[in-house]
Amino acid sequence: MFYEPINGHNLASNPLNAIVIPRPIGWISTLSKDDTPNLAPYSFFNAVAYEPPQVMFAATSNHAFGGLKDAVSDAQNSGEFVVNIATWDLRFQMNDSAVPAPRYIDEFEYVGLTKEKSEIVSCPRVKESPVHLECRYIRSIEMLSNDKASPNTVVFGEVIGVHIDDRVIIDGKVDPVYLHPIGRLGYTDFVHVNNRFNMDRPTWTSNSDDRHDV
Ligand SMILES: Cc1cc2nc3c(=O)[nH]c(=O)nc-3n(C[C@H](O)[C@H](O)[C@H](O)COP(=O)(O)O)c2cc1C
Repeated sequence: MFYEPINGHNLASNPLNAIVIPRPIGWISTLSKDDTPNLAPYSFFNAVAYEPPQVMFAATSNHAFGGLKDAVSDAQNSGEFVVNIATWDLRFQMNDSAVPAPRYIDEFEYVGLTKEKSEIVSCPRVKESPVHLECRYIRSIEMLSNDKASPNTVVFGEVIGVHIDDRVIIDGKVDPVYLHPIGRLGYTDFVHVNNRFNMDRPTWTSNSDDRHDV
């Protein structure tokens, strides 16, 4: 099939989020202006630079409440957020924390997770998660949006503190199988990392020029 998104896809559900997969889940914790903790998963999430380390998450239009989603407005107002890594053991709490709850609800309490003090930023992190990235808000960018009152918005942050549970460091490396992160597929499907394969990076030699003759 071919479709132009502007004209619709004629499928039961939008296939886009089943195409760009698997997506890591940035489980974002923030603090509101009145210090209410907030926690929500964002699979429009990634690391985008090494030096200095930077991450992004993107919020789509807020159909439940209008305006910006809490993670975005909190990051903008407080200048901070934490990325908690969602793992297989935490899958139900991660999913439950996506509930479109009103702002005064503390999703840590709602889903039964423990708040742990961060080292540098003031927003709490998920104690049960094995990895946390403490982030300083850099900027956000409003993207193309059909709903101008509730725009698609991408948030960038600099990672200024990294917590890693020693149990997921094997032989000096973060082991993805021990970390056991989950990722998002399309629709309501998810994937969990329970295996890996390895490939060496190619190097360029003068012989590489000959490949087109093979
Ligand atoms: C696995 C998963 C991934 C999600 N990813 C996103 C996302 O990338 N962007 C987004 O706007 N909403 C996403 N959502 C929905 C938000 O988590 C949901 O709108 C939540 O209520 C936002 O909370 P907040 O307003 O407290 O930030 C996702 C939900 C789930 C379960």
